Amino acid sequence: TGMFTFDPGFLATASCESKITFIDGDAGQLYYRGYPIEQLAEKSDYLETCYLLMYGELPNTEQRKEFETTITRHTMVHDQITRFFNGFRRDAHPMAMMVGVVGALSAFYQDSLDIANPEHRKVAMYRLISKIPTIAAMCFRYSIGAPFMYPKNNLSYSANFMHMMFATPCEDYEPNPILVRALDRILILHADHEQNASTSTVRLAGSSGANPFACIAAGIACLWGPAHGGANEAVLKMLDEIGDESNIEEFIQGVKDKRYRLMGFGHRVYKNLDPRASIMRETCYEVLKELGLENDPKLKLAMRLEKIALEDQYFVERKLYPNVDFYSGIVLKALGIPVSMFTVIFALARTVGWISHWNEMISDPQQKIGRPRQLYTGEQRRDYVGMDQR
Ligand code: CMC
Repeated sequence: TGMFTFDPGFLATASCESKITFIDGDAGQLYYRGYPIEQLAEKSDYLETCYLLMYGELPNTEQRKEFETTITRHTMVHDQITRFFNGFRRDAHPMAMMVGVVGALSAFYQDSLDIANPEHRKVAMYRLISKIPTIAAMCFRYSIGAPFMYPKNNLSYSANFMHMMFATPCEDYEPNPILVRALDRILILHADHEQNASTSTVRLAGSSGANPFACIAAGIACLWGPAHGGANEAVLKMLDEIGDESNIEEFIQGVKDKRYRLMGFGHRVYKNLDPRASIMRETCYEVLKELGLENDPKLKLAMRLEKIALEDQYFVERKLYPNVDFYSGIVLKALGIPVSMFTVIFALARTVGWISHWNEMISDPQQKIGRPRQLYTGEQRRDYVGMDQR
């Protein structure tokens, strides 16, 4: 291929060095800063995981308290942002609003845009982690025509998000701790995943020196697609389309004929079970038990589909296993979160990963603008032809 290595889809190209997350795809292992994801999902919580991803170490008691106070202090958004929402159609997709509103944060928080200044970078990171749940919940409330709920800062990160999603001004709202824990787990499992498409997008956008809010908006845009963060939403749509267990066989045949893909299956890096999927599967059963939904027809359909696919030659040969999104969609649905919010919640969770990668890149003195090359396959030089001769 001449001067350049031709590697579409980056199947064999490392785009950077990183100390944040390690995936062993063949073994089905995932580590944040060296800690196995299973241990974090069981013993840590999302906010502590954020600290770990950002700073590289688990916080001690004092650091944890200070971090929590700081994040809590930034949860409100400027009141003008609430009015910014009014420009959207009321039936706008929440992801469409997320991309716009998060990008617009750069217009509101101009005192944290100087990326050469570590203090500005830190405040921008805190603001993003704090405000993303507030904005995500606002997207939902706006889409159903409900008033926005203020953040409640004595609640945990995930409980506060549930509060902003589901509380009403006229009633007391107590988030169910089992469901809060399940949401927190979803956030931990989605917090980072090294150089996936959206994280690479954030790095590439950031490599030009663009401000962090704009870079995160770019990441959200990339995450939106069904091959990436849109997969959990696509899983639920697929289950709706299949409708009944008796249609599974016909559906699988369509997958084999390559008419469509089995959503929530397969992964670029994991060619073995996605460790996040095993944890999510367990959480899925916990939540359904708590809510008395064990006999829910959609869940039964999902479990049957999973079993059939795991035993089918087509999927076995290609090493296609369920990924995290196969189960997270079902859990989110059970938590009462509408399907259109699924990718928004993924974006919420991944913000810390994106911003940690962005900061790692910006802090590197060797950092250069990302500028891939290409193999040109178009026309050779030719002369302009006037309109009358075409
Ligand atoms: N259903 C059916 N066949 C599949 C699937 C699937 N979900 N995924 C891959 N294949 C087949 C594909 O057709 C190809 O077969 P063949 O060798 O006969 O041409 C082979 O497996 C390899 O596929 P590929 O497209 O080269 O693999 P990739 O590494 O480029 O794709 C993927 C990875 C995640 C985009 C893909 O597996 C997929 O589209 N999955 C469904 C969407 C999904 O669940 N995405 C969530 C990923 S996890 C969360 C996240 O990271 O956002």
